[in-house]
Amino acid sequence: MVISSGNAVTGRAIVLRATCHAHTSITTPNGVRKRNEGYMKIVIVGSGNVGQALGSAWRNCGHDIDFAVRDPTGEKAKRLTGNGYHVAAVADAAQQADVILLAVPWTELSTVIESLGTLAGKIVIDATNPLTPDLEMALGFDDSAGETVGLLAQDARVVKAFNTTGADNMTKAKDFSFKPLMPIAGDDMQAKAVVAKLAEDIGFEAIDTGPLKMSRCLEPMALIWIKLALAQKLGTQHAFALVRR
Ligand SMILES: NC(=O)c1ccc[n+]([C@@H]2O[C@H](COP(=O)([O-])OP(=O)(O)OC[C@H]3O[C@@H](n4cnc5c(N)ncnc54)[C@H](OP(=O)(O)O)[C@@H]3O)[C@@H](O)[C@H]2O)c1
Repeated sequence: MVISSGNAVTGRAIVLRATCHAHTSITTPNGVRKRNEGYMKIVIVGSGNVGQALGSAWRNCGHDIDFAVRDPTGEKAKRLTGNGYHVAAVADAAQQADVILLAVPWTELSTVIESLGTLAGKIVIDATNPLTPDLEMALGFDDSAGETVGLLAQDARVVKAFNTTGADNMTKAKDFSFKPLMPIAGDDMQAKAVVAKLAEDIGFEAIDTGPLKMSRCLEPMALIWIKLALAQKLGTQHAFALVRR
């Protein structure tokens, strides 16, 4: 697939706040959800390892998190609701979002993006990795999951991010002695600035690696992390960092 230059949509300005305030309330005493100035309303599609890790980390920074799920009346949805999250069907979730995180198997991208409906002007973060069941690259060299998202959601502002480290690190980035790296890629500078801030909020050093086409490099980078964790037995408590001299 080729990347569409139509992805670079310049949308409305989004205010970035300066710091991450832990446990900022987003619900009034009478249960009315209230938007905090400068905080993002983030819709997370996929409530597995990555979705729940980032949902928890961002909520601790005061962001307003909704989970978009396949079965809003199922047990998993009830558990999420019990943990204080708002849960909606995928088809109903996107319209109020500032940012949408795709944290699903890459093979589901087409189904999920179609279900989300119009994504015009939305910032869409693609955290997926196109891997085979035996943990090898399923795409590469001349294509990527990030570009696939760009093609499927042509009016969205797609940013590749949160794919190059383990889910566990996403809630524990601040535990490292060096800031772990969060490389991002995308064609829309403003969308990348928003996503970089979301990475920095939870303890990463965000680095802009270039256009969305750089997903072709960021996705194999995830496989290095996975191979180090599993084949080389480093476990999941390592992360990449950028050092300078
Ligand atoms: N695990 C990691 O450490 C890690 C790190 C970076 C990136 N990634 C990438 O991030 C993505 C998610 O990984 P994960 O480990 O979080 O996976 P996971 O634990 O298996 O969770 C996947 C989630 O996607 C949902 N889902 C699947 N198909 C869907 C559909 N058609 N519509 C809506 N939701 C759907 C599942 O819903 P149900 O709950 O209904 O089954 C589940 O909640 C993958 O592409 C992976 O390669 C993973």
